Amino acid sequence: MNSIAIESLAIETPGSDTRIVEGLSFAIPQGRSLGLVGESGTGKTLTALALCGLLPEPLRLVCSGISINGKKLEWDNRLSWRGVRGKGVFMIFQSASLALDPTMRIGAQIAETLHETKGLKRKTARARTARLLERVGLGPETEKCLPFQLSGGMRQRVQIAIAMALEPSVLIADEPTTGLDPLIQIQILGLLDNLSRSFGTSLLIISHDLRVIA
Ligand SMILES: Nc1ncnc2c1ncn2[C@@H]1O[C@H](COP(=O)(O)OP(=O)(O)OP(=O)(O)O)[C@@H](O)[C@H]1O
Ligand SMILES: [Mg+2]
Repeated sequence: MNSIAIESLAIETPGSDTRIVEGLSFAIPQGRSLGLVGESGTGKTLTALALCGLLPEPLRLVCSGISINGKKLEWDNRLSWRGVRGKGVFMIFQSASLALDPTMRIGAQIAETLHETKGLKRKTARARTARLLERVGLGPETEKCLPFQLSGGMRQRVQIAIAMALEPSVLIADEPTTGLDPLIQIQILGLLDNLSRSFGTSLLIISHDLRVIA
């Protein structure tokens, strides 16, 4: 079964004849990966945001069909995204500082996500948080840190830890390794691969680095 299938996706700006994205179709079978490659400014990030129901106003998503796990989505109905975002589709942001709350300690952020989306009791969520951080190679001291106290690679790991907590069907990783040194890049790609193998998560990897795609 396909985890995600998109038919003729377009992104338009009201009042303009030119579309930012046009005619994008793809399907990713469960547990498989797809690379989305393109020059800067071609609409990769906007496509990812559109697939999470997070397209900024006034941009509009137009599409012939979107299905997640074989279930067709009412793509023009924002309510229907609510059940999908997080557990269905989760996005790792190009800039981790956009994804993480700058005022909340890392441990509390992960635990809150587990509490909100998985319904775990707060104490259980905190215990699970330590294990998740360990899985992405971060020590227990990370729990007490605020996002600005971490390096770019560490912040990407925190986003991956949150993805591991949610076990989404589809993970969209927008430039997950950009700006990181080559050794850390390999580690981050290894973690994404691990997530895909462990949970059957399908990956949509956005990059303009063909080595990352390969
Ligand atoms: N909120 C917005 N309103 C209108 N246009 C936007 C908005 N956000 C982005 N754009 C435009 O849409 C185009 C695509 O932007 P997007 O960020 O998706 O590109 P990208 O392919 O991810 O580029 P990069 O590789 O640099 O990350 C750009 O030309 C940008 O100026
Ligand atoms: Mg982008």
